[in-house]
Amino acid sequence: MPLQIVIGAQWGDEGKGRVVDLLSERSELVARYNGGDNAGHTVTVGEHIYKLHVIPSGIIHPRTVGVMGSGMVINPQTLVEEMSMLRAAGVTLTPERLWISDAAQLITPAHRLLDRAQDAALGKGKIGTTGRGIGPAYVDKASRRGLRAGEILDEAAFSERVRAHFAEVSRLLVELYHQPALDADQLLPEYLAAAAELRPYIRRIGPLVQAALAQGQTVLAEGAQGTLLDVEQGTYPFVTSSCTTSTGVFSGLGVGVQTVERVVGVTKAFQTRVGSGPFPTELAGEAADFLRGSGANPWDEYGTTTGRPRRVGWRDLVLLRYAHEANAFTELFLTKLDVLSGLKEIPVCVAYERNGKQLATLDFSGDARLLEQCHPVYQSLPGWDADLRACRTWNDLPVAARAYVEFIEKTIGVPVRTISVSPERLAMIQRG
Ligand code: IMP
Repeated sequence: MPLQIVIGAQWGDEGKGRVVDLLSERSELVARYNGGDNAGHTVTVGEHIYKLHVIPSGIIHPRTVGVMGSGMVINPQTLVEEMSMLRAAGVTLTPERLWISDAAQLITPAHRLLDRAQDAALGKGKIGTTGRGIGPAYVDKASRRGLRAGEILDEAAFSERVRAHFAEVSRLLVELYHQPALDADQLLPEYLAAAAELRPYIRRIGPLVQAALAQGQTVLAEGAQGTLLDVEQGTYPFVTSSCTTSTGVFSGLGVGVQTVERVVGVTKAFQTRVGSGPFPTELAGEAADFLRGSGANPWDEYGTTTGRPRRVGWRDLVLLRYAHEANAFTELFLTKLDVLSGLKEIPVCVAYERNGKQLATLDFSGDARLLEQCHPVYQSLPGWDADLRACRTWNDLPVAARAYVEFIEKTIGVPVRTISVSPERLAMIQRG
């Protein structure tokens, strides 16, 4: 029963869209199980660049069915916009091809306003959220007030529920955050219209995914964000509000653990982060500019969802080992190795120093305050000059690039099975 899982091993933006694109060619179902439109998955197909935020990116393969699981938080308005964008690009989207879990939570414009007001109120300690309403929607879910997609099916009751929710959030905005009141009469019609468009796509997902697995179909679970943004295992509180690790797949799709065949950890050859929070190997100045790129091409390090320049740094193997422990990766997919070409030496963080002691593994669960106290201990590996973008086999890579990859797999104890060397869809090296 082949359930394959793709997980970001860092703070998101690892290039998962690329991996999903590759694996979804051989999958029947492609599923998102966590998060919402805070994600940004860039997939390049020939001349076209698709930027998907909420629909599983494997949908661009015509024979897949896209599944949006119960672990997600879905904004009907951005989903409807993304559906139109895909249709305009020639992707067929019918209720047979896109399934939305009736238990998925809904994001509203009120959640978005609250998200921004709450993050701004944190001042210097702000999380730097994407402002998409993710946190407030998950708060409503956990406090059992949330709106679920299945409620859209009862038009009158849903309209009442949304109106009541708007009124409640409006009170919070005005009284706690000194913001203008919410104009329900203006927001409601558009919101309800978008929600109504989703009606034919809503169904009970668990049994459908279970049946597909039982028939031997391949289900690809597409993780959003990354391990270090996981609400429990990540660098708390600078995290998102969902379970981003492989363990979230089971509750987020409604399937059991015995179905897993493969867990692919996707990681860049260096480290990036959007938003606030500790980042032990963060760089500034020229080295940072080198890794980030100028922004002239879509592969450079600027957020897909927010356009913010990403924070960048050297490869942190302590955090990669931690990510492996949280997910049980069966293999690694290393992206953007080409970006390191031209460096004489490449520092890699192999341990931390904290309170005068060296740590090769984290002895705490991601806690941001403790991670702030960790200083990287680097080992320098030889760099290479060659442009890697045309390499297609392991032996095409310079010896130093191979040594860099082997160092990572040896340190983590997980094979690096695939390496990508340019944004072009086929620019990768598969090692069997
Ligand atoms: P939220 O998910 O919008 O609540 O944002 C919480 C934190 O997660 C912020 O630091 C965001 O920048 C970060 N974040 C959320 N989604 C992504 C993503 O897809 N890639 C990278 N960072 C993300």
